[in-house]
Amino acid sequence: MFNVASRFCVCRCFFTHNIFLREYNLHVKYISKTQFLTDYSEVLTSRGCSKPEELIPQVEAEVKRRHNLEQETLERCAMVAREYQPLHPHIYTLQPSFLDKRFLELVKVAGEADQTAEGIMGYMQSHRERIYSFPVFTSEFCRTLVEELANYEQSPLPKGRPNTMNQYGIKLDELGFDDFVTCLRTEYLQPLARLLYPDWGGGQLNSHKAFIVTYREGGDVDLSYHYDNAEITLNVALNDDYFDGELYFGPMRQEEPSSQRLGYSHQLGYGLLHRGQQLHGALPISEGIRYNLIIWMRSSAVRNALCPMCNEVPTLEPVRGTGKGDGFTMTFADVCTAL
Ligand SMILES: [Fe+2]
Ligand SMILES: [Zn+2]
Repeated sequence: MFNVASRFCVCRCFFTHNIFLREYNLHVKYISKTQFLTDYSEVLTSRGCSKPEELIPQVEAEVKRRHNLEQETLERCAMVAREYQPLHPHIYTLQPSFLDKRFLELVKVAGEADQTAEGIMGYMQSHRERIYSFPVFTSEFCRTLVEELANYEQSPLPKGRPNTMNQYGIKLDELGFDDFVTCLRTEYLQPLARLLYPDWGGGQLNSHKAFIVTYREGGDVDLSYHYDNAEITLNVALNDDYFDGELYFGPMRQEEPSSQRLGYSHQLGYGLLHRGQQLHGALPISEGIRYNLIIWMRSSAVRNALCPMCNEVPTLEPVRGTGKGDGFTMTFADVCTAL
């Protein structure tokens, strides 16, 4: 007898593509030394790099980090679970009381039978290009979460980087917030995404990657123009005691480049929902520390057809254990014994 099972995967391009060279603001592909120097020597030289070959150890270290990522993440999760003393243990399980009443109302209305995207517009702010904002968390919850994050940051425990572009921040799975985010995604965000982005798998979101980004002087102060490895992104502002740091949006990555930018200033507790592949960036902050919660929501139904990172049909590699990889899935027939 056969059972059809599915396993989460990464696309093999994860080990070769989109390696970010911060100093030169350049994403590169790395197959071999020769390919790297052939493809990038000219552009790197034009950006002030006198010896592109000297970047190779840095690029190879990033490739190695990606190969070891899954194992190292598991080890860090286990270590945090064992050794970290939470400051506010009660916030690790999502409660409706953490959520703004207006958000609860929006989600309730979105879940009504025969609801439409137009039917929920009055409950959100609609920016152009299908970008929406609405209150998500109470300010009390945001304050408590930021305290928890600062406590964890100050602990000596090892921390993984959220992604190649943000050096500073916290991976929420490593801190033990994975069930929290799963609940937020499935119970609250999915009803909205289903109406707002049916063409981006909004009704079939089945995994996520969630992290906190922090911006401060001496750390990451801004974020270059990019798109996310996600179908739909939620970005929630967790504090407001900083200056500047506006977000800006351009067209979708597949569209004609445009110099038009849509600016957005964060509001405490508010989330901004957008398609992951809409180009965006963050302007520098000038004072203080900015904490934002980012949830990259993924639909394997969408990404299995086209990998957003290499722009090809993904070459799938299953992840071991319970990891969700980059949200791709592979189905296979599993032999099971009938009793
Ligand atoms: Fe982003
Ligand atoms: Zn790919």
